[in-house]
Amino acid sequence: MKKILDYMEEELRAAFADCGYEEKYAKVVLSNRPDLCEYQCNGAMAAAKAYKKKPIDIAAEVAGKLDIQGEKAIFSEAQALMPGFINLKLSPEFLAGYMNGMRAEEKLGSEDAEKPETIIVDYGGANVAKPLHVGHLRAAIIGESIKRMGRFLGHHVIGDVHLGDWGLQMGLIIEELRDRQPDLVYFDEDYQGEYPEEAPFTIGELEEIYPAASAKSKADPAFLERAHAATLKLQKGYAPYRAIWRHIMNISVADLKKNYANLNVEFDLWKGESDAEPYIEDMIQMLIDKGLAYESQGALVVDVAKETDTKEIPPCLIRKSDGASLYATSDLATIVEREQDFKPDRYIYVVDKRQGMHFEQVFRVAKRAGIVREDTPMIFLGFGTMNGKDGKPFKTREGGVMRLETLIKDIDQAVLARIMENRTMALKEAEETAKKVGLAALKYGDLSNQASKDYVFDVDRFISFEGNTGPYILYTIVRIKSILAKYGEQGGNAEEEKTILAPAGSTEKGLMLQLARFNEAVQTAFAETAPHKICQYVYELANACNSFYHETKILAEEDAARKESYIGLIILTRRVLEACIDLLGFEAPERM
Ligand code: ARG
Repeated sequence: MKKILDYMEEELRAAFADCGYEEKYAKVVLSNRPDLCEYQCNGAMAAAKAYKKKPIDIAAEVAGKLDIQGEKAIFSEAQALMPGFINLKLSPEFLAGYMNGMRAEEKLGSEDAEKPETIIVDYGGANVAKPLHVGHLRAAIIGESIKRMGRFLGHHVIGDVHLGDWGLQMGLIIEELRDRQPDLVYFDEDYQGEYPEEAPFTIGELEEIYPAASAKSKADPAFLERAHAATLKLQKGYAPYRAIWRHIMNISVADLKKNYANLNVEFDLWKGESDAEPYIEDMIQMLIDKGLAYESQGALVVDVAKETDTKEIPPCLIRKSDGASLYATSDLATIVEREQDFKPDRYIYVVDKRQGMHFEQVFRVAKRAGIVREDTPMIFLGFGTMNGKDGKPFKTREGGVMRLETLIKDIDQAVLARIMENRTMALKEAEETAKKVGLAALKYGDLSNQASKDYVFDVDRFISFEGNTGPYILYTIVRIKSILAKYGEQGGNAEEEKTILAPAGSTEKGLMLQLARFNEAVQTAFAETAPHKICQYVYELANACNSFYHETKILAEEDAARKESYIGLIILTRRVLEACIDLLGFEAPERM
């Protein structure tokens, strides 16, 4: 469906043109004085300068042209106000028509993109063999939402977890394993047979091996040296190390999948840095052949600085002097692979904002080298840090890195305690409910902040049923479900289509106005890669719904058609709320 703003602007454009003014002045915006009007056009002010007239005269002239009476009028009021505003109110009949239009569509009036794009969203970034920690939480939560929004708008979105599976952690584990179990066949250079299918460690052991090795490497430079050498050997294809690597991957990836599934996060591709390996050699050769890569102090680099830069962008390191590839190498080679497999129209990377420079360099090399077309958007959505209440990066009470599983468990338990406090729900249902509400609290607490900003992780605030929180949104949905259930008990049929009538009251109209903004909200949020705009929207919608609820006796309404219309309206509200939380990546329970 056309956006409600487009309907209005069309009318305004015609009115401006009718009066002999350029159409560009016809922009309509949400009113900043909701007490006076719903929307407004401020174009007369700008037009006044161009046409050397008083703004109020132009406003009055244009407002006079707007139809506020006809059968098809979309406005019920159009008033010129000093110094030159045009204040607008939508016609209740038009608005009801819009509601019924939304109601009839599966996507609630949201239109698919005119040109559907193939979009890669790179958003997991977990590092294999290291436990998933809160640092990776934001990437997963934000990226999942971006992916869902893109899909909702009809794009072909491919989510890639892009594991860190090829780095020093592998060399560290290999060398630690050698120290602990030197007799393993992997360390016997004369061994000729097949390598075992069983890994020489469990997930529990692996999780202990890595931190131990990492600590050792900090105290023991010789050990670190060995780990570097082992990493390089692995990358060059040394069979016994590849065998260990495969064990690490199998065990670790299974665990990661479980963890992401708990977060309601799903990837289409489980690729990693290692998958880029086969593309590296040719790519480096191509960069050399094109005269872009050159040697500098033994390393291979590509210049990426531009004259227009306001800050220094250092050359991008492609290969170290010892021949090892780097983070940038694997990211560039991954782009080569993605171009070959998908020819993406757009790239979106959801990564810690401290990696901004790395991506700036990588994007520039990709474009300079013609790996990616000059006009393909490569978006770096850098997110800020999740802090504790002390304003420092979130830690466990003991000061260690908080494991994601622990964090989720803590939230679920806090929610469960709250549910058990004031409800008499069976424990099993309460636990299921707490999981859903906990996830909503966690995700909404994150997504409601602009991604690039740091935010404070505050469980008590996040799990509150009041205020701008996930549970509040869920509570609103649950409330609607409960009204509909009662309506059913009264003999009504909440499944059946119901015509929505023109609003009679102001909160009823307010709710409709808010519903009508749905398609616009989704489009804006995706265009700006800004899930927090969905949160803003859904919060305002929940508020509008609750105002309507408090002022309206929905089930006690005596006029049958009016009552049906109320029910139709809350069914539509529930659908829009649920569509929004699905875009955010969580769902509502039946009761709370
Ligand atoms: N594994 C990386 C980290 O933990 C994040 C990967 C992000 N994606 C990418 N294509 N570089 O920092």
